[in-house]
Amino acid sequence: MEKNKANLDATFSKKVPKRNMKTIYIASDHAGITMKKALKELLEKINYKVHDLGPQTDDSVDYPDYAKKLAKAVKSRPDSKGILICGTGIGMCMAANKIKGIRAALCYNEDTARLSREHNDANILCLGARTTTLNMAKKITVAWLETKHEGGERHQRRIKKIG
Ligand code: RB5
Repeated sequence: MEKNKANLDATFSKKVPKRNMKTIYIASDHAGITMKKALKELLEKINYKVHDLGPQTDDSVDYPDYAKKLAKAVKSRPDSKGILICGTGIGMCMAANKIKGIRAALCYNEDTARLSREHNDANILCLGARTTTLNMAKKITVAWLETKHEGGERHQRRIKKIG
């Protein structure tokens, strides 16, 4: 059953000590800037330490520049995660996955969000601001962050083969 907005925001409403806050990086292109701002607010509300890697205006930019910047940041901090937003999420996903060690997943509902964590241990979530509603993007984000990698030999073997 889908969670309503109040439940969604209440999911992580408990305050956690600053030192235990999890790090998340977020970036977009011009098409994703409004969604980035809204997700950043949600993430701060649910006690994530958010690093906004830009852009800060809606001037036209090239998504690979931001995808690579964020992917390198996530790679440098294995305990962190990242969120990338462009018009479709496709370009961001393609560019981020060029960085070794990055497993970026383009998710379009809560099931794909959960599975990308359980099976693929995705460390970057990609979203399409022109193809996914903001409400769905919030649900996807919470589902993705709530879900742990299942582990186990079969998933580890396959992830290792990705390289
Ligand atoms: C920008 O117009 C658009 O191409 C970009 O946001 C993204 O959808 C690319 O995959």
